[in-house]
Formats: sequence, structure tokens, C-alpha cells
Amino acid sequence: MKDLQNKQVIITGAARGIGLAIAGKFGLAGAAVHIIDLQEDAVKNAELQLQSQGYKVKGHIADVTNSDQIETIFKNIAEEYQNIDILINNAGITRDGLVMKMKESDWDAVINVNLKGTFICTQKVCRYMLRQKQGVIINIASVIGIMGNAGQSNYAASKGGIIAFTKSVAKEFASRNIRVNAVAPGFIETEMTRILPQEIIEKYAQAIPLKRMGSAQDVADACLFLASDYSAYITGQTIHVDGGLIM
Ligand code: NAI
Repeated sequence: MKDLQNKQVIITGAARGIGLAIAGKFGLAGAAVHIIDLQEDAVKNAELQLQSQGYKVKGHIADVTNSDQIETIFKNIAEEYQNIDILINNAGITRDGLVMKMKESDWDAVINVNLKGTFICTQKVCRYMLRQKQGVIINIASVIGIMGNAGQSNYAASKGGIIAFTKSVAKEFASRNIRVNAVAPGFIETEMTRILPQEIIEKYAQAIPLKRMGSAQDVADACLFLASDYSAYITGQTIHVDGGLIM
């Protein structure tokens, strides 16, 4: 699979940001892209935007923490298109706060969407990939899951969990020709980071060896590599896309 012509790819949280950039990149590579996201309007907009560029795209509205919704969507895709070749677990949220003051609801929300959502989608897709005896799963982690961050203990735990989950599932599925890897973006310019004060953004950028924030396209490029046969001998790994922030 060195190009992605007619591959069925599912990307969660793809109505905007990094997920939308991945959807565009995979659409350009010839894949049939299924976007899953919470918000109906955003999904519709993303679908129209990508279709207007000539890509094969279908939007689905669902919450990754709702296993019934995810099961139904995956079943419909598998019935209509026969295969599910690639899953990208990208949906993620932040609810920042120091651990002393963190509300349990903020802890639960972040762990549920980021970590449990990744588990649910992986569990629901694996029956199709196991049957096909081929598949690729890419989990979007974060450098914060490796280095930690004050005020983001819930997010760091969820992303560190995703990295450990990735290795375990890679070991479970390797003999069935299913590769599972993670991408750990550093500081990427999206809605998620746009809310930060300018001085914080500049401070972070100075700490990055390549001296710039990353783009959603940088992350999408790594995903394309991991989805293709150019990475055929790579599984259980976490690829850092962070301008050299962590070495
Ligand atoms: P974003 O906030 O711009 O987009 C996230 C998308 O996920 C939104 O469209 C949202 O509606 C969707 N979503 C949230 N909860 C959902 C749920 N329960 N079910 C379905 N969809 C849901 O975020 P961004 O920046 O594009 O991040 C994407 C991924 O990359 C996340 O996993 C994030 O943690 C990760 N990441 C982002 C970094 C950054 O600097 N922006 C750095 C490292 C990792």
C-alpha cells in the first residue's frame, strides 16, 4: 500500500484542526475518508470543504466515548465498502488545571475522550481488520504524554496511556498483519493552542530546536507515512513530530 487509492480510512475528531488536515492529506493520496466528529455543522463543513477539492469524503456524527454509536458507524462502513483499512484515533480534548484544584469531572472527561475513546474505536475496528488480516491503526498522542506538563496531569495521563496502549495493541495484533503506532505532536498551531496567550506561544517556540510551532500538515505527513507501506516494518512506535523538542 504505497499509495492509498481506494483505502477506507476513518479519522476521529476530524471536523477541524489536525484531524481535518489528516483527512485532506489522505484524500489527496486517493483514500476514501470517513470523518467522525461530535458537531453536525462542523462535520458538514469539513465534508463540503474536502469534497470541493475532489476528495472522497463522508462525514459521520458520533461521540468516540459512545461505543454503540461507534459500533454502528463502523458496521455501516464495513457493509457498504467491504474493508476498513486505516483507523486514526485523533479526537482529543483538554481540561487544564493544577491537580490540587482539578475537578473529578475534568479528569474523567479527558481520560474518557482521549484514552477510552481510543480504546473503544480500536476495539470496534479490530474485528474487521482481523478478518481482513491487514490494517493500520494510528493513535494521536502528545509530547505531553512523554514529558508531562504542570496543569495538564489529566491530559498527560491520557496521552501517556495512549502510548502504552499502542505498544500493547501492537503486540496483540502484529501476527495478524495489523500495525499500530502513535504520533506524538509537539506544539501545533490549531484551535486547541490558539487560546494560549501570545507570550506563552513565543516562549514555547523558543524552546523548540527548529524554532517554530508545528503545523497540522506536519502531523498529517507523519500519519501518511505510518499508514503506507513505506512504514511496513514499523509497529508499536511513537513518532515525535515536535521540531526536536524531545530528543
Ligand atoms: P481540536 O480541538 O482543534 O480538534 C479536536 C476535534 O475533536 C474537534 O473537532 C472536536 O469536536 C473533536 N472531538 C472532541 N471530543 C470528541 C468526541 N468525544 N467524539 C468525537 N469527536 C470529538 O484539536 P487539535 O489541536 O486538532 O488536536 C487533535 C489531536 O491532536 C488531539 O488528540 C490532541 O490532543 C492532539 N494534539 C494536539 C496538539 C496541538 O498542539 N494542537 C499537540 C499534541 C497533540
